[in-house]
Amino acid sequence: MESSCVRIAQRNLARSKTRTDTAVDLEDRNFLVKDADVWNGRAFTRGSILIENGRIKRIARRIIDNGVERTNASGLKALPGLIDVHVHLRDMELAYKEDFATGTAAAAAGGFTTVLDMPNTVPPTNSARRVIEKQKVAAQKTRVNVGFHAAAVSDSDEIEALAHAGAFSLKLYMPKPIAPFDVENDQAIEKMMRAARHVGTPVTVHAEDIVGTENTSQGDGFEQAADARSPIFETRAVERLLRIQKKARCSVHYCHLTLRSSLTKISGSTRSTSEVTPHHLLLSKKLLSTIGWRGWMVPPLRSEETRQSLLESTLAGLSSAIASDHAPHTIKEKDQSASKSPPGVPGLETTLPLMLTLVNRQQMPLSLLVKLLSENPARIFGLKSKAKLQKGADGDVVLVDLKKKSKIDSSKFFSKAKFSPFDGFKTQGAVHSSIVSGKVVYKEGEIVAGEGSGSVLRSGSG
Ligand code: NCD
Ligand code: ZN
Repeated sequence: MESSCVRIAQRNLARSKTRTDTAVDLEDRNFLVKDADVWNGRAFTRGSILIENGRIKRIARRIIDNGVERTNASGLKALPGLIDVHVHLRDMELAYKEDFATGTAAAAAGGFTTVLDMPNTVPPTNSARRVIEKQKVAAQKTRVNVGFHAAAVSDSDEIEALAHAGAFSLKLYMPKPIAPFDVENDQAIEKMMRAARHVGTPVTVHAEDIVGTENTSQGDGFEQAADARSPIFETRAVERLLRIQKKARCSVHYCHLTLRSSLTKISGSTRSTSEVTPHHLLLSKKLLSTIGWRGWMVPPLRSEETRQSLLESTLAGLSSAIASDHAPHTIKEKDQSASKSPPGVPGLETTLPLMLTLVNRQQMPLSLLVKLLSENPARIFGLKSKAKLQKGADGDVVLVDLKKKSKIDSSKFFSKAKFSPFDGFKTQGAVHSSIVSGKVVYKEGEIVAGEGSGSVLRSGSG
């Protein structure tokens, strides 16, 4: 059966033929990854991957080809393209922070061949019309596969329209709803969740129940700001939403969790999935005294003890996914006092090298990395033809040099946000190439595909 994701890719190709700058023929999408160690879902086997018209045609020890474009991948590991389900690509009126072209260049440089964009943009993605508008703009600019989350709205007809437009989830942003939404009202959330279940769209949540609480921050430092958003708000949000979710029997994905107790509760509940970020796994609050705004995000960094237990529980398999929560801002915006500095840090270009470093230190099995960064994200958001290197699957591949040592240097980012809380971190394991639907997008430090070479994904069609 032909994959619908590929059909979309082909539609995009057909459209792009009218544009002279990125015109490509289907034949250009025949590509051979030669002599890699190919991840088969359990282990590596030596072989080559032939991708035809965007899909994997064959994987075999030896492939006799007739002169198709190729890359010599000997010594490299071929993994299914990574999927980041929590990315703020901004664009539209926030394009000065990041746009679809730069954000998806950063994705490709970080090994992500698919990203799902968050709706807190200007204008916000809070209607089917806005989803379609973003899909159109993104089709001209994206270098990887991109899909869109929409804001949680209260109107059930709009929820249906959002599902038809291909929104991947309805995002409930508890601290400050993106669309007008009474987050203090359990019935309103339950009604929204029931409508979401009815159309088969999951709900995603930023689980910090802080509405109505006074800002208890003493002073205007980043450590105090972090203390003011205590773990209690996450616990309260998770417990409350799990209760409502159970009644509504809706699938809920809990974003950027910071506590082992949250992961435990969610993993014990049906239709619930969780996500953690590299910054909450690897950094703790005490770092804020030295890096200040560079480490300011929400939920904020936690104590060292909390961080360690989050990492331990993730390594023990309690989290469903790792997402970057790539949240770019300008340095001018960030470099202000804690009350003025917008929360969020870029993460697309640091996530994989940081996680590969854990693999090299034998803290994280590679099978867990693939599960958290590709297989589970695909399963949670219904990307059926992705996250596997096998015949018939989409031709999304990341080639990794497991041994390569580097140092994180945000001045080299493709993202517009050239800062990172990880600057100077030594890593082992790097992206060599990212291949999207059989087309090399990133290779050895360079972006080699034009704007619009990627595809827009619609939920329910892949
Ligand atoms: C996000 C952003 O900048 O859009 N910031 C962040 O610190 N994670 C918004 C959010 O998820 O709260
Ligand atoms: Zn976010």
